[in-house]
Amino acid sequence: MKLKFDYNNMMESAIGGQGVTDAQVKAELPRMKQAFDTVTANRGKGWQEWTELPYTPEEELTAMIKDCEEVRAAAESFVVLGIGGSALGPLSAATALLHFRHNELPRERRNAPKYYIEDNVDPERMRALLDVIDLKTAYFNVITKSGETSETLAQFLTLYAALKNALGLAEAKKRVIVTTTLGKGALYEIAVAEGFKIYGVGKGVGGRFSVLCPVGLVPLAVLGVDIRALLEGARDMAAVCTAVDGAKNPALMTAYLQVKAMEAGKNVSVMMPYADGLKCMADFYGQLWGESLGKAVDLSGKTVYAGQTPAKSLGVTDQHSQIQLYTEGPFDKVVTFIAVENFRVSETITDDPSIAGCEFLKGRTFNELITAEFQATRFALAKAKRSNFTVTLPEVSAHTVGELLMYFMYQTAFAGALLNIDAYNQPGVEEGKKATFALMGRKGYEDKMREVMDFPVNREYVI
Ligand code: PA5
Repeated sequence: MKLKFDYNNMMESAIGGQGVTDAQVKAELPRMKQAFDTVTANRGKGWQEWTELPYTPEEELTAMIKDCEEVRAAAESFVVLGIGGSALGPLSAATALLHFRHNELPRERRNAPKYYIEDNVDPERMRALLDVIDLKTAYFNVITKSGETSETLAQFLTLYAALKNALGLAEAKKRVIVTTTLGKGALYEIAVAEGFKIYGVGKGVGGRFSVLCPVGLVPLAVLGVDIRALLEGARDMAAVCTAVDGAKNPALMTAYLQVKAMEAGKNVSVMMPYADGLKCMADFYGQLWGESLGKAVDLSGKTVYAGQTPAKSLGVTDQHSQIQLYTEGPFDKVVTFIAVENFRVSETITDDPSIAGCEFLKGRTFNELITAEFQATRFALAKAKRSNFTVTLPEVSAHTVGELLMYFMYQTAFAGALLNIDAYNQPGVEEGKKATFALMGRKGYEDKMREVMDFPVNREYVI
């Protein structure tokens, strides 16, 4: 494992009564062990198929990479249509691993198509996409585990029609790659009928746990990311997260500390990477943590209203907008810092002798500045007795990103087990999906339509 974890600032020794004591940790080792056993005993079973994704057989990977290389060579634009777990995995990894201005680089420098991850149905965004891509050189990856999601189907219908119009049916069919559950759902039926290339999502792989299956691997391979290294990183992290059942297990220990914080009323989980490339990791984590742990009832049916609200923050940018609140506002947050030891470039702050003042900056590097700002913010938070811990990447690479993604998934699974909730369902999301079907007039949703239209019963408070 290359990642390092520092949870000193979650402990009483650093933040006094806001923290956890060694005695508490010791007393609760059996609780941690129980959560560890629950997760590890279910590896590869039920909704825990995600644990086995890093061990995808080499033949499958070789075939996938070969196909993706062909798309990479042929496409000028590569468009992912998907939402939630079908978008945030590839988005977070691509943002971390590609050039920050990938789409603006000339083709020979980006060595891959431009990419667009379309995870909304704002009509202006759809029009804007059509304004910038050339359908003649565009490829589409339609990703939906259920094959039924309204947003993704609407995007697919529109863009496939546009493709057929621009290229004719035979060529349009070659431009669509579908990633969905095999044998199930509207998109699967369409893909078979149209003869699209299809990648399967395992039945026991939930959307937010799907980044290491074709949901994430296909777009990343098309964009030239080393998916073998990504999976190797995930395997390294999995080995650590399944090896020990106590405080030396980073995912288990940080899940435990987060759960202790929740139990002490800290209901907000702030994810604050100090690296622009990792900013979408906060979105990936936000969905994973929010959707997995936000549950009304536990596994015994008891009402618990569990969960912690994820909040996104970016170092250093949000030091100048949110940190005042985090330092002096309510004691309701845990901040996870993600730090990077070695950035991929070193950039010196020019020592311009013709400019007087700001001597402390001259000749230093941006690398030193961002690191100092991270350390300063972490110090200020801990001094104010605010719970925080740090995950450090030695550098941002396919390997370390694979480790980070796997860590987030194991941490979430352990937290779910510690809370005794089902981390893999999403009844709240499903309710909204059904209400959307009803409002769009889908057959079979007439009762839901009546329920939606009758709510709220009292309509008097509208201005
Ligand atoms: O985690 C989940 O299961 C959900 O958030 C889904 O990812 C999201 O609703 C999209 O679903 P689908 O992939 O079926 O289109």
